Amino acid sequence: MEEFKYVDNTLNRIGVLTSGGDAPGMNAAVRAVVRTADFYGVETVGIRRGWQGLINGDFTTLDTNNVTRILQHGGTILYTARSDEFRTKEGRKKAVATCKMLGLDAIVAIGGDGTFRGALELSRMGVPIIGIPATIDNDIGCSNYTIGFDTACNTAIECIDRLRDTMQSHERCSVVEVMGRNAGFLALYVGLSVGATVVLIPEKKYDPVKDVIEKIQSARLTGKTHFMVVVAEGAGSAYDVANIIREGTGIDPRVTVLGHIQRGGSPNARDRETATRMGYYAVKALVEGRPNQIIGIRAGEIVETPVEEALQMKKKLQMDRYTILEVMSRASTRKMDE
Ligand code: F6P
Repeated sequence: MEEFKYVDNTLNRIGVLTSGGDAPGMNAAVRAVVRTADFYGVETVGIRRGWQGLINGDFTTLDTNNVTRILQHGGTILYTARSDEFRTKEGRKKAVATCKMLGLDAIVAIGGDGTFRGALELSRMGVPIIGIPATIDNDIGCSNYTIGFDTACNTAIECIDRLRDTMQSHERCSVVEVMGRNAGFLALYVGLSVGATVVLIPEKKYDPVKDVIEKIQSARLTGKTHFMVVVAEGAGSAYDVANIIREGTGIDPRVTVLGHIQRGGSPNARDRETATRMGYYAVKALVEGRPNQIIGIRAGEIVETPVEEALQMKKKLQMDRYTILEVMSRASTRKMDE
């Protein structure tokens, strides 16, 4: 076991909260924060319902024993919310007052971009913070990976595999809308994994003729009789894409909006393992006197980025994946299944 190193001995009690859209693995991160804090002799208070809970003084005590058997569960035992009140100075003043009332020396905030913007504001008011990226969108610039992404991709893939069965039987076209907010990580990853004919992402404005109709027509020329179209919610509505296909090809597609189903379910190995490591390093950063950082993963290693800098970092979608997808779904002179 690593050497015990307690540098900042003013750290006696910390708060932990989950905020924004939930993601599979948030519970694993909460557990890791609580158990690491316990290891360092620091108490943890669970703040319920995100930043709004901090404003309202909505809390629960957490310790090594009462975070048992949460690792494998989706959702978040701390509940989550998006708080408009926290966006106001008055709201944040109330949150700081709760920190004082509860004797919190720091807050560990688990969530996405919005969560970290809130954390930055709180740190500017003197409350030390640490952020842990957890969102199915995988859109946090300072980290190659965010907790929940892999589980969400696998959930979407499982749903689409099922859709493909019925689509193949009926020789149909399916248009599936996946989440991801303004980012196409989820759609592109899923599209590659299911062998989609077309994937539409917000990072690449699509041309209805070139990027949709012609791709389906050329796949049809190869003898293909069913087509999978994956649309990122940020690229547009799946219903609009279905209309483009209907008018341009005469095919009558079926639309499925996967929606919140992608956010639920037991976290997979990658999300449990990442959450546990990130939770551990979040507390370690506080204990060693390095507050106001976002924990991330780059090249497989845990890294810390100052929160202000982290919020300015933009994650670029690796467009080679889009090229690979085009190669995979390209029309060939030979007949093929997918
Ligand atoms: O940020 C996670 C996310 O699931 C996005 O992919 C999606 O756009 C959004 O949250 C949905 O938010 P809500 O749960 O408030 O409908």
